[in-house]
Amino acid sequence: YEIYLDGLQGVVPRFPMLFEGWESAAEAALPPSVWSYVAGGAGDEHTQRANVAAFLRHALVPRMFVGAAQRDLSVSMFGLTLPTPLLMAPVGVLGLCAQDGHGDLAAARAAARTGVPMIASTLSADPMEQVAAEFGQTPGFFQLYTPTDRDLAASLVQRAEQAGFQGIVVTLDTWVTGWRPRDLSTANFPQLRGHCLTNYTSDPVFRAALPKPPEEDMAPTVMHWAGVFGNPLTWDDLPWLRSLTTLPLIVKGLCHPDDVRRARDGGVDGIYCSNHGGRQANGGLAALDALPGVVEAADGLPVIFDSGVRSGTDAVKALALGATAVAIGRPYLYGLAIGGVDGLVHVLRTLLAEADLLMAVDGYPTLADLTPDALRSVG
Ligand code: FNR
Repeated sequence: YEIYLDGLQGVVPRFPMLFEGWESAAEAALPPSVWSYVAGGAGDEHTQRANVAAFLRHALVPRMFVGAAQRDLSVSMFGLTLPTPLLMAPVGVLGLCAQDGHGDLAAARAAARTGVPMIASTLSADPMEQVAAEFGQTPGFFQLYTPTDRDLAASLVQRAEQAGFQGIVVTLDTWVTGWRPRDLSTANFPQLRGHCLTNYTSDPVFRAALPKPPEEDMAPTVMHWAGVFGNPLTWDDLPWLRSLTTLPLIVKGLCHPDDVRRARDGGVDGIYCSNHGGRQANGGLAALDALPGVVEAADGLPVIFDSGVRSGTDAVKALALGATAVAIGRPYLYGLAIGGVDGLVHVLRTLLAEADLLMAVDGYPTLADLTPDALRSVG
């Protein structure tokens, strides 16, 4: 209610109140090549736009005489009780979006301040141990880009366990980078590289046993790194991934119900329905359109959803379609770019406040009340 009450007293917020404002302020704040990287997607970005547009095809129906004066937005999953249904999606190169280069630490501090967990990307500038040390009382998750070397993969997971992460999210849709015209036209790779390889280069297995890239020569260096983490996993790898940890294992990038059933049978603890914000493959289904089928196939396993969430209202719609929790991608990056930890906290709190107030007005006091019946298809 703080922002709301401030508004009633004539206090204008420090940061914009809507995604469009965060987006345009971030574009102005970031160097053009970084902006292309974070805002861009695959191909002509049709899927990226479809992710956002899909929310407009679902409309909430208000319920009356509910008396939703008290709301409870808490979520239980993986043995954790989280105060809100939001998460920060894993984002590499957060360092590039922070003025001091420590965007990973900033996101971890925002997690501590808001109770919104961060899923920390493998591709961070700050090592995972330092990131986890900033979480305070808020649990955190580690996202693994599975390297081709199995000992290195095992070492990264072990480090995450020791650092206190509460779950491992394995991203499956990015063993090769998508066709991203904006990045190709700004020749982005060399700039990004220095900001996201710390977890690999600081790893004892990498340092002791793996060949080092020929830094002086760019093309072989790029190919070297592509070989380190470009691992085209197959179903045969799932038992090995499962064996790496006793922490909850969540697989990210699943959109087809058959894949969900197979992952479930393979012993994963959670499904993460996402198309990477349209950054990987163009011409695909909007992630929101995949969600109902994923939820049904998950058959009670927690389902995290992301791709296209731009407001608290969007988050409520995804929850009504069956998501257990909703992860935020670009909006929090933009908050970080425009105001560091404060900007990021502002974005998360704005999304939460909007979702909470919407649930009050529309008469859905808890997440359990938000079923598909709360929505009608329109347009
Ligand atoms: C990502 N995403 C991502 N996912 C992941 O598993 N590991 C990663 O390192 C990254 N890195 C990354 C960088 C940038 C700049 C962006 C925008 C996204 C994908 C992310 O987790 C999430 O799936 C999308 O951001 C969700 O889409 P929206 O909400 O950004 O449209």
